[in-house]
Amino acid sequence: MAEEDITVLMDEKRIFKPSKDFVEKTNVKQWMKEHNIDSLEELYKKTDDYKWFWKEMADEILEFYEPYDNVLDWDSPFAKWFTGGKYNIVHDALDKHAKGPNKDKVAYYFESEPGDADKELTYHDLYVEVNKLANAMKKLGIKKGDRVGIYMPMIAELPIAMLATAKLGAVHSVVFSGFSAQAFRDRVNDCEAKLVITCDSFYRRGKKVPLKSQTDEALEDAPTVEHSIVYKRTGDEVDWTDDRDLWWNEIVKDEPEECETVKTDANDPLFFLYTSGTTGKPKGIIHAHAGYALGTATTLKWVFDIKDDDVYWCAADIGWITGHSYIVYAPLILGSSSIIYEGAPNHPGPDRWWEIVEKYKVSVLYTSPTSVRLFMKFGEEWPEKHNLNSLRLLGSVGEPINPEAWMWYYKHIGGEKCQIMDTWWQTETGHFAITPLPLTPLKPGSATKSFPGVSADVYNENGEPITNAGGNLVLTHPWPGMLRGIYKNPERYRNTYWSKFDDIYLAGDVTRKDSDGYFWIQGRADDVLNVSGHRIGNSEVESALVSHDKVAESAVVGKPHDLKGESITAYVVLKTNVEPSDALKQELRTHVGEEVGKIARPDEIWFVTDVPKTRSGKIMRRVIRSKALGKEVGDTSTLANPEAVDEIDKAQ
Ligand code: WTA
Repeated sequence: MAEEDITVLMDEKRIFKPSKDFVEKTNVKQWMKEHNIDSLEELYKKTDDYKWFWKEMADEILEFYEPYDNVLDWDSPFAKWFTGGKYNIVHDALDKHAKGPNKDKVAYYFESEPGDADKELTYHDLYVEVNKLANAMKKLGIKKGDRVGIYMPMIAELPIAMLATAKLGAVHSVVFSGFSAQAFRDRVNDCEAKLVITCDSFYRRGKKVPLKSQTDEALEDAPTVEHSIVYKRTGDEVDWTDDRDLWWNEIVKDEPEECETVKTDANDPLFFLYTSGTTGKPKGIIHAHAGYALGTATTLKWVFDIKDDDVYWCAADIGWITGHSYIVYAPLILGSSSIIYEGAPNHPGPDRWWEIVEKYKVSVLYTSPTSVRLFMKFGEEWPEKHNLNSLRLLGSVGEPINPEAWMWYYKHIGGEKCQIMDTWWQTETGHFAITPLPLTPLKPGSATKSFPGVSADVYNENGEPITNAGGNLVLTHPWPGMLRGIYKNPERYRNTYWSKFDDIYLAGDVTRKDSDGYFWIQGRADDVLNVSGHRIGNSEVESALVSHDKVAESAVVGKPHDLKGESITAYVVLKTNVEPSDALKQELRTHVGEEVGKIARPDEIWFVTDVPKTRSGKIMRRVIRSKALGKEVGDTSTLANPEAVDEIDKAQ
């Protein structure tokens, strides 16, 4: 389809409606019938009573060890869901299936990149693996409340490690395997992990990534870590620290296949996941057992309409919230079969994903706009080689999906028969907050409306709801999967999310609500980059640059990028007597890769003698960005050094 057509489509505000037949069979429609609800409008109205709604869903989906007293205790901005209840998410995700009708159902199909280690794990297999590891961890002294740092790639042992940790009532902190040793070290130290779990190495784009040696580097300065459990994935030779390192495969060998799940409180922490903020170091976002379980499972059941015979594939990485919620916890709670793929989307060829869809007859596929754009670039001839007829629903997350990519996904992957669920949410929300339901009429590029029981709105600076203009995206009441705080930093939690408007959650995204009440997310309001659907703080990249011994100062901004959403441009002030050179640019890129991770390496680096700052010394990224994009800069009277703006100009 030509670009003009799409533009016209948008002008016409064309709406994509699901077929009546499809709607009739959906889980949400079924629920509506049981509750005598005839229309979407009625559903939204009825679920305005959100405590009633979430209680209904909890009764349907969760199994508590001991019943709760209250659905919600809200002492703003601190929420507790299902207080008084005894609950461990591992019971719903695993224990209940392993003893029930799903015992022999496949929980995970693992597809390794080179095809050397493919396997299927049934719910019973998974249960046994988790129990053995949990027993071994117990022997290492891991108990309720302890933190476990997990640094693993996309292999089935990653969810096993997470579930074993949760089973003991301990707290996992998973760090994306693409992050650097330094990033892992910072996170392990921040959460004071007692144990880390990793693997020898793994495959990515035909090469081996030496994760164990990165872990060793991280542990050189991680005083709280007593042991490191290493899963043997490739069999590569690795360095060994005798009194610290343990082979996973050996320590689980003689452990029993049963391990009692610790009966935690409904509000005990389940995990921390670090995410970028505007300033300073990443924030350890806290999620708790019961509310998170309910929010993730309900949204997956309704939005992706998961049924018993679905083969579901969320192609994100478990190292991000999308994988935590929608590869690990929600699909397991629903007893579904899903896929874990180790490698790169284009290895060995650009049709690897479509080969997987065909091989496993995937029915629901969930990915990001950046992947869709990558596949668009490869061309439709690649998906055309494969039978993708098994697909019935598609999903998107991570950034606004541009209508052109939406149309391509709809046409070339979904065969014009699959609705696209554009889900807006965040590490902090835990689960979808704004999303279509399978019966929602779709407008390409809009995530449509709040999920029932969640309430989004757009406020102007005075806290008044506005329509048809860009404003602050907010959530107006608590929701079950909401973050419970920032680890060791309640003040930062309050200031970041709850201080702009009283008792109202500020998401940090600029958004417009149209006359039909549909939300159009326009991007971050703060200084956070969105590169390939991943949040990276400008300040993190700046700190990494400044940590290089030749750099005095730096300012980092994002520019729109066809494939990645945003690309990273860095303006760097060198120390006196340091000669600028292309070789130095390369050195700095590599340095940022080592400090933060490859994803954060600047696409462009410019050497300047100064960067624009306010009188209080704050880098004026907005000014720099406007200049870099050739836009009007506006008032620069608050700048301490207006002449630095010309520097940016000269750098183009
Ligand atoms: C952006 C990812 C538009 C947004 C689950 C949000 C989106 C940030 C969408 C959270 C979407 C996520 N449309 N923008 N469907 N989904 N975002 O914490 O800016 O990695 O605030 O969570 O991604 O990123 P995070």
